[in-house]
Amino acid sequence: MSYIFEALQRAEAERSGESLPKNADSVADLLQKVEEEIDRKQSLSELPPSPKLEAPEVGSFASARVLLPALAADARLVCLTDQGGLAAEKFRVLGLKLRHMRERRKLKRIVITSSVPEEGKSLTAANLALNQSRSKILNTVLIDGDLRRPELARRFGFNRSLPGLSEVLRGERQLSEVVYRLEGSGLRFIPAGVTPENPIEVMQAGRLQPLLEQLETFFDWIIIDTPPVLPLADAQLWMKLADGVLLVTREGVCEKKQLERTVEVIDRSTMLGVVVNSCHSNEQKYYYSRYGPAASSVDVSPATEG
Ligand SMILES: Nc1ncnc2c1ncn2[C@@H]1O[C@H](COP(=O)(O)OP(=O)(O)O)[C@@H](O)[C@H]1O
Ligand SMILES: [Mg+2]
Repeated sequence: MSYIFEALQRAEAERSGESLPKNADSVADLLQKVEEEIDRKQSLSELPPSPKLEAPEVGSFASARVLLPALAADARLVCLTDQGGLAAEKFRVLGLKLRHMRERRKLKRIVITSSVPEEGKSLTAANLALNQSRSKILNTVLIDGDLRRPELARRFGFNRSLPGLSEVLRGERQLSEVVYRLEGSGLRFIPAGVTPENPIEVMQAGRLQPLLEQLETFFDWIIIDTPPVLPLADAQLWMKLADGVLLVTREGVCEKKQLERTVEVIDRSTMLGVVVNSCHSNEQKYYYSRYGPAASSVDVSPATEG
């Protein structure tokens, strides 16, 4: 537990430009102080509140209607299949925290990333987006921005070669052709498409920013699943375009040094918090769920892990 905690302590200290309290009696005391500091900073935030916009009529945004096929056996889309469960509840809390945060700042483009592969980015992005899409007022689109190792189309039960982001970025498709409306869920989904040979070049070809701006006129939440931060540049490109970054970390998959490097790379002004995936001990859940305004611990049916 402590290795993650130490990295986050340092991140918060760097963000605030202050040294951490040295006289904290215990980890819990320290977390309390850090949490209070974050709350205080949020209440002093100079960012103007985001304007209250009428929900756009997404019906006017052309999107292909698709029936959700049979989900992959290992989909773990709990916000679709087990809405009453504990894991779905965690995503609801995460969604609520994000909604509160956007009352104080522009927060539409949310990038989900992690240090290394297999930490649960795709799982978090998909479930968070499914949860946000339950709103009747706010419109949500989920983008598979991991052009190298796309996962979401398969998870939803689609063919991996379903045209998507990479086709739009290469100028082969219109955006409206690759926004799929998942019937029965309210979620719009843009798959990664066919993996290009040169993902970075495709992302830097100048179409990504206009695409996000176009989506922003129709959607309230743009949840973006991305590759890991280490050692690729792709996630950093996404983070530059994001209003907020959620860092997913999974104990046993990510090492202390890797997490430290990732925390250093993420711009403090966009860092929303840390989602700790698969914490089994109560102590960890307690600590992590208290770190930062949007932090949450998510444990998706560990008993089903192979
Ligand atoms: N909390 C969890 N409980 C059980 N399995 C999980 C959990 N988080 C992730 N997994 C599994 O681990 C694998 C990697 O998750 P994924 O979301 O694809 O990671 P990433 O996108 O970071 O590479 C997937 O098979 C996923 O179902
Ligand atoms: Mg992934």
